[in-house]
Amino acid sequence: MATQRFLTGITTSGTPHLGNYVGAIRPAIEASRRPDTENYYFLADYHALIKCHDPAVVARSRLEIAATWLALGLDPERCVFYRQSDIPEVMELTWMLTCMTAKGLMNRAHAYKAVVQENEDAGSADPDKGITMGLFSYPVLMAADILIFKATHVPVGRDQIQHLEMTRDIAQRFNHHYGELLVLPEVVVPEEGSTLSGLDGRKMSKSYNNTIPLFETEKKLRKSVMRIVTNSLEPGEPKDTTDNSLFAIWRAFSSPEETAEAAQWFADGIGWGDMKQKLFEKLNGVLAEPRDRYNELMANPDTVEAILQAGAARARAESGPYVEKLRHAVGLVRS
Ligand code: TRP
Repeated sequence: MATQRFLTGITTSGTPHLGNYVGAIRPAIEASRRPDTENYYFLADYHALIKCHDPAVVARSRLEIAATWLALGLDPERCVFYRQSDIPEVMELTWMLTCMTAKGLMNRAHAYKAVVQENEDAGSADPDKGITMGLFSYPVLMAADILIFKATHVPVGRDQIQHLEMTRDIAQRFNHHYGELLVLPEVVVPEEGSTLSGLDGRKMSKSYNNTIPLFETEKKLRKSVMRIVTNSLEPGEPKDTTDNSLFAIWRAFSSPEETAEAAQWFADGIGWGDMKQKLFEKLNGVLAEPRDRYNELMANPDTVEAILQAGAARARAESGPYVEKLRHAVGLVRS
């Protein structure tokens, strides 16, 4: 069987939080340590331009996210770690795919339709208000990211499943017309229940404003943990672990034994204040070392840049010849 190649992108807008770590970064780093798969991880900075038009935010987020992954233990030798905008072949393929993509397919994209819906709900005269071609054709760019490296498996959140279906549709149409050149990828979605809950008990997400950032200072981390919403049960009253954020976050950072121990504290009626203190100490214990490495990397952007450049060189050794083949297939041939 051919080697499985996993590829995933991280949009560089915003600051990574505990939910990103548990849901995406940690499993990706673990996967990169397995000998039987190839792993491609990239900073989707072209995607960032769709949502964010503040150059300082885009620039900072590119560095923050690269530093986060490295600080948390991603070994750039065990995967191909690069930045989307360092791979010009992504853009070239985007155009070839754009010319093979039915506009009607893009009309059905959830991300685009959601904004149209918001406009309609707001009674706007123009349903396309605020919608750029970047947002509209976002799934084509994503397809190019995946197809340019012949990924076979693409781990993404559930909200991205449709984009993977579109990638397959687009690739199929291309292959049907130009020959079997593109590899159809499979989507890999997280197991049910593997998302982390946030400060208010809902899924930890930037859009709910309920996140705990990964690398804020120890003091701020403590403050965030103290803000986790709890019920009014008093110390001494037994507490339920189901749907409890303190317990869920504890579990995500603990061994099964430690989790069983915490379940016992709950049954014994631990006070919320005490549990928060324990959770803070646990998180701080896990994050202190990576936080130092992160701060070090943030202070030395040249180190990060060199790693990304090396990753781009490895990636382009593949994308370069491949795009040449694709150019040939579509008729962009040198005479
Ligand atoms: N759109 C993805 C997200 O928001 C990020 C992304 C961009 C991506 N290109 C990709 C993920 C290619 C997987 C493969 O989560």
